[in-house]
Amino acid sequence: MPTVIEALNNRSSKRAYTGEQIPKETLTKILEAAGTTPSGANMQPWVTYAISNKEVLENIGNAIIDTMNSGVENDQFIQYYPLTWVSPYKKRRITTGAGLYKLMGVDRKDNDTRLKMWHDNFRWFGASNVIFVFTDKNNIEGAKGALIDCGAYMQSIILAAQEFGIDSCPQGSTTEFGKVVAKVLDVPDNLALLYSVVLGYEDKEAIINSYQPDKVSLEESVTFVD
Ligand SMILES: Cc1cc2nc3c(=O)[nH]c(=O)nc-3n(C[C@H](O)[C@H](O)[C@H](O)COP(=O)(O)O)c2cc1C
Repeated sequence: MPTVIEALNNRSSKRAYTGEQIPKETLTKILEAAGTTPSGANMQPWVTYAISNKEVLENIGNAIIDTMNSGVENDQFIQYYPLTWVSPYKKRRITTGAGLYKLMGVDRKDNDTRLKMWHDNFRWFGASNVIFVFTDKNNIEGAKGALIDCGAYMQSIILAAQEFGIDSCPQGSTTEFGKVVAKVLDVPDNLALLYSVVLGYEDKEAIINSYQPDKVSLEESVTFVD
């Protein structure tokens, strides 16, 4: 069983899974542990749908891909990525994307393959379990605290999963089609989708899972004031 530091250091986003179902008991333990995440005023603003039903996942994926194919760029509750990318984030984004495509032998200009790789998000990379995290729209009306809390909740899910040998990929790609997801799941009108997390057993043969993008040095990101 990994220590917390080992789980943090050894984790990376996985984009190919065996498709084996996570036992309900394990999924419950992961979500129970994640439910202890701290939140402002103990608001616990996450409203979670844990989907393990193949047909429902397929329906969500189909609805998103159909929406994309109809030329709709996004249908979202929140804008995840910056509207304008500035330094140093722009370079990090480009380097990370380029590294993944290089590993997979995909040309920068090969838009068809790149699109297919993006569609893999909506096939859940072959995994059978996806966690969709919503919050009440009221929580994020002119305030951002719930987003901070739900981000911490995301990492709790990811770390708890590591204890069971379960890997993950957080997804902002579903954030962009949050309203499509909400419609397929028929969630109450007050809820807004923030993100999803794919959970599963990594396909150890898949080259894509060996990708570990560089992280910035401590010096670059942390200012110690002693
Ligand atoms: C909020 C969030 C949204 C993300 N969205 C996607 C996504 O839609 N598709 C994907 O393949 N990876 C997605 N990722 C994974 C990032 O690309 C990945 O975390 C980053 O490149 C660092 O790599 P690592 O997780 O392997 O350390 C997302 C990560 C986060 C935290």
